[in-house]
Amino acid sequence: MKVKKAVLPVAGFGTRFLPATKSSSKEMLPLVDKPLIHYAVEDAVKAGIEQIIFITGRGKRAIEDYFDISFELEFHLKFQGKEELVEKMREISNMADFVYIRQKEPKGLGHAVLRAKDVVGSEPFAVILADDVIEAKRSGTQQLVEIFEKYHCSVIGLEEVSPEDVSSYGIVAGKEIEKGMFKLDTFVEKPPKDKAPSNTAIIGRYVFTPAIFEELEKTKVGTKGEIQLTDAIESLSRKEVIYGKILEGKRFDCGNKLGFLKATVEFALHDKEINSEFEKYLKEVIKC
Ligand code: UTP
Repeated sequence: MKVKKAVLPVAGFGTRFLPATKSSSKEMLPLVDKPLIHYAVEDAVKAGIEQIIFITGRGKRAIEDYFDISFELEFHLKFQGKEELVEKMREISNMADFVYIRQKEPKGLGHAVLRAKDVVGSEPFAVILADDVIEAKRSGTQQLVEIFEKYHCSVIGLEEVSPEDVSSYGIVAGKEIEKGMFKLDTFVEKPPKDKAPSNTAIIGRYVFTPAIFEELEKTKVGTKGEIQLTDAIESLSRKEVIYGKILEGKRFDCGNKLGFLKATVEFALHDKEINSEFEKYLKEVIKC
């Protein structure tokens, strides 16, 4: 069965970016000229995803507007003779079919994903967290979808992190069945360094069988008083095989200020329009 739907939870408060996220969404912060959410949708579309299901909350209207057609803007651009930009704007709303579901209260990532149950139905689906931006030949979602299509099991994107960072991630352990691919049996959400079963972390790309919804429905409030997706994955692993794959490419954790700035610098250095001027500028700043 093909993976055609992706759930993109965007209902969090984004407290690490306050006050920037007081009245707008973290997912709309731009890396050079595209918001984080645009990169996440591209990641999905490259994997053959046709329907994007956003889990939104208060103050997230900008995301709906971003993926909608803006007649006023198009009219204005046409009037200025900027046909190329009109095309570019249209392409955004044509990337996929967009569906919006509200999460009334941000009760955790697991709770957000569960909100998509009725729209996803009995199909496999991807979950993509927009604050993890992955630069890779094959998109993060694409790498997982390929494994799903081969094994028909849920599969999670992984990365080796430093022991100092394990307490910021869901940490997993299991048997390595081929290079970089694991059959997972242990899942712990944000463990202290001395209790972590490994330093292999879950990053923001997943493909699930619909059986995850049943587990999410049973999952109790866990770490940070939230319904944790990791806890539901743990209980699903007692019923179904779950694979984990160390994703190829470079991941930027844009959910915190330092990671976001690192991504901004690297994306600017890859942007053909500004890279040489920007590099010159960086060298000048570093010299000071
Ligand atoms: P984070 O743990 O990064 O939380 O959520 P956050 O609120 O976005 O940011 P901080 O930690 O307060 O700075 C991971 C992803 O899950 C979504 C977020 O929007 C983000 O994409 N999420 C989280 C929800 O949709 N609902 C929730 O209840 C919690």
